[in-house]
Amino acid sequence: MPWGHALVLLACAVSASGCSADPEPVAAAQPAKAKALLAQYQCGSCHQIPRVPSSLAGGGPSLNGFGRRSYIAGEVPNSHDAAARWIMAPASLVPDTQMPAMGVSPQDARVIASYLLALK
Ligand code: HEC
Repeated sequence: MPWGHALVLLACAVSASGCSADPEPVAAAQPAKAKALLAQYQCGSCHQIPRVPSSLAGGGPSLNGFGRRSYIAGEVPNSHDAAARWIMAPASLVPDTQMPAMGVSPQDARVIASYLLALK
């Protein structure tokens, strides 16, 4: 049997939603993944983030409306690449920033950046 078929059958076997001819688009799955990552990296301990639980001990700015912001931390022109880089290593963009590097992988940073940029 061709590999493609084997993989589809495997996906049917493990997927809770059962077997569907249309695989779920990757983009549709990302907000849930981004929210899980934001919780995993505990971004909510410093930031208020829509639909992510917060404790706000660290006093970072609210990330509500981040997609409308022209500048990251008031200094770096906002873009997907810049936001992903900020999330991995804020001090590489703004050396005296209060936000620590959180050990976010490049792949996770892109998922998080997409989510935050969609907050209008
Ligand atoms: C220890 C507290 C702390 C944690 C944890 C933290 N941040 Fe921050 N963050 C800050 C502070 C403080 C700023 C403001 C930085 C500045 O202005 O220099 C900031 C700024 C930002 C900004 C820019 C906001 C803006 O409006 O310009 C983004 C985006 C951001 N953080 C995302 C994240 C993400 C994603 C995580 C988790 C991976 C995270 N932060 C974890 C404290 C934190």
